[in-house]
Amino acid sequence: MATRLLPILALLPLAAATTACSASTKKGAAGRAWDSIEPECREKLENNRTAAAMRCLEGHFWEAREPGRRAGDWHTTLRKLRHDAEMFTWLEQEGKVKPEVKKLFRGVFQSARQKHDNPDKVFELAFKEQTDDRKLWQQANNKAVYWDPAGKETPARILRAKPAALQGLEDSFRSAGRAVSDKFLADGTLKKLKRFLQASTFYFYPRKGYHLLALMEDGLASPLLGQVVDALRSALPGVLGPLSGIKVWKADNSALAREKADQPELSEDAAVSVLLWLVPSSALNGSASNALFLFQRGNESEEPVARISYATNRAVIWGRHLQATWRGPSWKPGFLQRGLHLLFSFGWAQEECAA
Ligand SMILES: *[C@@H]1O[C@H](CO)[C@@H](O)[C@H](O)[C@H]1NC(C)=O
Ligand SMILES: *[C@@H]1O[C@H](CO)[C@@H](O)[C@H](O)[C@H]1NC(C)=O
Ligand SMILES: *[C@@H]1O[C@H](CO)[C@@H](O)[C@H](O)[C@H]1NC(C)=O
Repeated sequence: MATRLLPILALLPLAAATTACSASTKKGAAGRAWDSIEPECREKLENNRTAAAMRCLEGHFWEAREPGRRAGDWHTTLRKLRHDAEMFTWLEQEGKVKPEVKKLFRGVFQSARQKHDNPDKVFELAFKEQTDDRKLWQQANNKAVYWDPAGKETPARILRAKPAALQGLEDSFRSAGRAVSDKFLADGTLKKLKRFLQASTFYFYPRKGYHLLALMEDGLASPLLGQVVDALRSALPGVLGPLSGIKVWKADNSALAREKADQPELSEDAAVSVLLWLVPSSALNGSASNALFLFQRGNESEEPVARISYATNRAVIWGRHLQATWRGPSWKPGFLQRGLHLLFSFGWAQEECAA
């Protein structure tokens, strides 16, 4: 019964998007997140100037996160520290940070582990005096210590999917309100994007569901992601309006205690969401089948409208009347095996015209 209703529902958001009002306010949590972005950068997004918006956001990011530019951030959680210690260990192996950084984060994790039972409780680090460790922490914790140059690249080809396949994707979104596309990015672009999202130190926000979050306006904005956004919009011109956000959810795969299954908060207040998976399915600690469920929005007790398997380089697209829930397994240990969910949001689920 639900599936029979979908084609009708799917047409409504599209009609609404094309009659967008000249001045509008965005509602809900997504609206508040949007309002916190620098107005000059927001305006560029609203005017479809993706590349200029990315430069604008990147500038504000460096101002806020360049080591030494602002005061230190002394807050963390045990689970985040575990990630950061792993991250700096890996970066040190790659020759991107000094051994002292790795030593400090590993040491702080080991001692915090003795003191804190709840891995997700935020605590404040207290250094007794102005030691070298204190200075190093101040420059490294929640800072742009390493931002991989892959983010600056301009690959010749962004999408691998052919025009006919993309037309099919748009048709299927129009009729069902959702679509799945495989082998989506060109190989070179996939590789660069994965490197950028795995190597860079921009996962600043511990979130429920045992994931760290990275935001467009706080590190992700880059020429590379801007090009992916523009390629998506020109591939699906009737479906995707202006970009309203980019997020990456990074999974915890440590041995720290977890009470329930890990779940990124993939449901956005977007008109259309595009989810991309980059990490190989061999990193999953279990089966790739039925990893993502799409439900009618606001009704998870109902049967899902679709069950989608995990695959690397797969794009999943859904409209505002659906919501996505991760039902897949967790991830095998190792820094590069932490799951990544790259989520683009276009437009808003609810929009009000301002008088
Ligand atoms: C941005 O692009 C959308 C179509 O994707 C269009 O409806 C809108 O009018 C454009 N906005 C501006 C300011 O050009
Ligand atoms: C992987 O799966 C096994 C078996 O279900 C489980 O015991 C283990 O804790 C899982 N590992 C992670 C990192 O979730
Ligand atoms: C959710 O779906 C179930 C089964 O289709 C239905 O009985 C129930 O009324 C729905 N609830 C809401 C809030 O729509």
